[in-house]
Amino acid sequence: MSKQFDVIVIGGGPGGYIAAIRAAQLGKNVACVDEWKNAKGGPAPGGTCTNVGCIPSKALLQSSEHFEQASHHFADHGITVKGLSMDAAKMVARKDAVVKQNNDGILYLFKKNKVSFFHGRASFARAVEGGYEIKVAGAAEETLVGQQIIVATGSNARALPGAAFDESMVLSNEGALALTAVPKKLGLIGSGVIGLEMGSVWRRLGAEVTILEGLPEFLGAVDQQIAKEAHKAFVKQGLKIELGVKVGEVKVGKKGVSVAWTSAKGEVQTLDVDKLIVSIGRVPNTTGLNAEAVGLKLDERGAIVVDADCQTNLPGVWAVGDVVRGPMLAHKAEEEGVAVAERIAGQHGHVNFNTIPWVIYTSPEIAWVGRTEQQLKADGVAYKAGTFPFLANGRARALGDTTGMVKMLADAATDEILGVHIVGPMASELIAECVMAMEFRASSEDIARICHAHPSLSESTKEAALAVDKRTLNF
Ligand code: NAI
Repeated sequence: MSKQFDVIVIGGGPGGYIAAIRAAQLGKNVACVDEWKNAKGGPAPGGTCTNVGCIPSKALLQSSEHFEQASHHFADHGITVKGLSMDAAKMVARKDAVVKQNNDGILYLFKKNKVSFFHGRASFARAVEGGYEIKVAGAAEETLVGQQIIVATGSNARALPGAAFDESMVLSNEGALALTAVPKKLGLIGSGVIGLEMGSVWRRLGAEVTILEGLPEFLGAVDQQIAKEAHKAFVKQGLKIELGVKVGEVKVGKKGVSVAWTSAKGEVQTLDVDKLIVSIGRVPNTTGLNAEAVGLKLDERGAIVVDADCQTNLPGVWAVGDVVRGPMLAHKAEEEGVAVAERIAGQHGHVNFNTIPWVIYTSPEIAWVGRTEQQLKADGVAYKAGTFPFLANGRARALGDTTGMVKMLADAATDEILGVHIVGPMASELIAECVMAMEFRASSEDIARICHAHPSLSESTKEAALAVDKRTLNF
C-alpha cells in the first residue's frame, strides 16, 4: 500500500525542508524525502548548504579568522601570544559537529511540525489519479503518492573538462571543506564565491594560494568600485589572483597537481600545487529523478523549467532553489519554498527577486542588494551615488578593521534606493537594513533620517545615504 500525502517534497536542503515545514504549518499532510548520509550512514538533511556549503564553510572561516587574528592582529591590541599553533584536523572536527547540530535541528523541526521524513532517494514513478507516485530507494524503501510535488534537489559542483573531481587531489566544495592538513601550495580555478571563501580559509591557515580566473574582470557581477577595493585587500593579504587566464591541461599525480595555463598577456605557464580546488560554478541536480517518466521539462542546462511562480510544465509539480533558474543561494531557495507552500494552500506567496541579498564571507566581507553602478549605466537609469569609508567610522576604528566602504545608489529623480554595495567588516549583517529599505521602497533620505546607534558600523550606511545628498557629517 502506498502512503498518501497532500505534499511530497523531494530534497531536504534549505528550499525543500523549509517548503515542507511551511506546508505543514498550513495544515497539509507532508512528506520530505532526502538521501544525504552522515559519516555513519544516518540521515543528514539540510542539503549542500548544511553539509558541504554555507554552514561548514562559515565554521572554517571563523576558525581560520581566529587564527589569523591571533597570528597577526592581536599584537596591535597589546596582546602577545606565545607558542601559537593550529590543529587543522580539530578545526574540521569542530566544523563537522556544527554541521551535525544543524542536521539534528532539521530532524527535530520535522517532528515538531509533523512532517514525515523518509531517508532515501526519491524518483518519479508515474502520474496517478489526482497526483504522482514517488518511489523512495535507500534506507527507506517506500512508495508514496502525493497530490502536489515540490522538487528541491539542488545542484552539484561543475567539473573542469579533463579534471574530474576525485576529492583527494582535485576538490569540489566537498573536498575543500574536508582537508585535515594545510596544503603547502593550493590552486583554485575560478575566483567566484567558493574560490574566494575557500582560498581565504586555507591562506589564513598557511597555504600559498593561487587562484586562476577566466574572466578579465575580478568579481564581474559585483559593483566594480567595491570589487576593486576587495581585490586590493585580498592581494595585500597574500592571495595570488590571476585574471583573464585560459586553463589548459590538468595533470594529476600522486603528490600534486600540475595546471597548464595561459596568462592574459599570452604567456604559457604551469602552476604546480599540492591540491586543486575547482570552483567554476554549479549545475542543477536532476540525476536519478526519472523526470522523463512523467514528462517533467528540463532546459538545456538540465534545470527544471518553471514559471515565475515555480510551477513546472506539469500540474501539481513545483520546483524551487538551485534546480531552477536564478541565483544559487540558500535564502533564495527558502523564499521560493515558502511561496510555493503558500500557493499550494491557496495563498499568494511572493518572492521579490530584486531584493535578494548576496554575501561573500571573506575578510573583508562583501555584500550587496539591488543593481550595481555598471548595471544602472547599462540600463540608462539616472542615479546618484553616495559612499562612506569605514576608515571614518568610530566603531570600525575601535574594532581595528577599517577596510572598505558602504556605497548607496539612488534614483536621481525619486531618490528611491536602487542598490547598496558594501565591502568591509560585518557587511553580511549590515546589508539586512538595506534589503528592508529596498523592500519598503525607501529613499536614501529615509535612511539618512533614521537614528542609528552610536558607535556602530551601521552609521556608515546612514552616512552613505547622507553622501547621496552630498552631506556626510563625518567625512
Ligand atoms: P561562481 O559562479 O560564484 O564563480 C565561478 C567563477 O569561475 C567565475 O568567476 C567564472 O568566471 C570562473 N570560471 C568559470 N569557468 C572557468 C574556467 N574554465 N577557468 C577559469 N575560471 C572559470 O561559482 P562558485 O564559486 O563555484 O559557486 C557556486 C555557487 O554556489 C554560486 O552560485 C554561489 O552563489 C553559491 N555559493 C554561495 C555562497 C554564498 O552565498 N556566500 C558561498 C559559496 C557558494
